[in-house]
Amino acid sequence: MSLPAVILVGGQGTRLRPLTDRTRKDMLPLVDRPLLAFTFEHLARHGVERAIVSCGYLPDQIEARFGDRHDGLALEYAVEDEPLGTGGAIGFAGRGLESSFFALNGDSLREADLSALVRFHRETGAKASILLTPVADPSRYGLVRTAADGRVETFLEKPRPEDIDTDLINAGLYVLEPEVLDLVPEGRAVSIEREVFPRLAAERSVYGIALPGYWLDVGTPESYLQAHRDVLERSFETAVGEALGSDFTLVDPTAEVHDGARLVPPVYVGPGAVVERGARVGSLAVVGEGSRLEEGAIVENAVVGARTAVGARCALTGSIVGDDAVLGAGCEVRSLAVVGPGARLGAANELDHGLRIGAGQVIPDEALRFS
Ligand code: GDD
Ligand code: MG
Repeated sequence: MSLPAVILVGGQGTRLRPLTDRTRKDMLPLVDRPLLAFTFEHLARHGVERAIVSCGYLPDQIEARFGDRHDGLALEYAVEDEPLGTGGAIGFAGRGLESSFFALNGDSLREADLSALVRFHRETGAKASILLTPVADPSRYGLVRTAADGRVETFLEKPRPEDIDTDLINAGLYVLEPEVLDLVPEGRAVSIEREVFPRLAAERSVYGIALPGYWLDVGTPESYLQAHRDVLERSFETAVGEALGSDFTLVDPTAEVHDGARLVPPVYVGPGAVVERGARVGSLAVVGEGSRLEEGAIVENAVVGARTAVGARCALTGSIVGDDAVLGAGCEVRSLAVVGPGARLGAANELDHGLRIGAGQVIPDEALRFS
């Protein structure tokens, strides 16, 4: 039987500002489609047929793009009057579900085998089962200590350095029994990580399992770039990855790549984009829909959003430029610098060391220098 899923998409995405000033985090593009589409794709691939998108604030952008059906998934929206926290939101969206269901954070990418998680859940008879994943630094996550049979002994959200004694964390995907929602008081914000899981751990009814497969939390410019690299390198299974094919190159048929421009795979050039003579895209680069790279511009290990103009001889490396931006000739944008949507950089500016240019900000010619 196919389990329904509740997807949480309430967060503010502050660490990805200014990219999230005009676009909600879950709708930021990842190569050729919004981040959230990868979560839908993962669920659909594992047989989920119904998803309730749990929104802490208005889901206009999501509804406008996905409507009530995507990838064979029937979509519903549950919109809170005000954000109810992760537990409150699952309760609000999931009350009324009569079977076991998936609940998941909409801001990470994963490819774990969901049937294996459900099998584990049935075998242990747990009320809740948590997908776990190893990470290098658990401090930004929910640390999960388990016994040999997978029973969760401790769930510790945002552990202090001295509490870290395992690399296994909550990957933000659960199988829940409807009765878990009885532990979620109504009418106030409730965190599933801070309130519900510790209680279930105390009553020995929550289990966790680390399953193989890709996992990435997309929350910072660094991880956003990493996600692009991983999709382009086909480090996990995605529809875009399949479309990139064995030459790791996807140029939309409506894009124009002029003679004397160079594409170095892995590379993606979106619909209507123009790459002029002497420009180079790649490796590990994305040029979004309707953007233009003028003569001799270089985009390497970098992302250019939609409808952005990159002037002649600009060099973008290890950096991100949002939608609708204009970069004058000869700009250098490197080392995790971020140019916000609609920003206008005059000629010959240099952005380095994670510098962020706000949405719509205007920078005169030669105003920024790092060397
Ligand atoms: N609907 C709704 N309402 N969604 C919410 C709300 C809310 O009030 N608050 C947060 N969310 C959504 C976020 O959009 C995100 O998709 C998910 O719930 C988790 O919230 P975050 O704020 O992103 O939490 P985090 O990233 O610090 O930590 C969570 O994710 C880690 C894995 O990425 C926790 O679940 C950790 O335990 C986990 O390790
Ligand atoms: Mg998060």
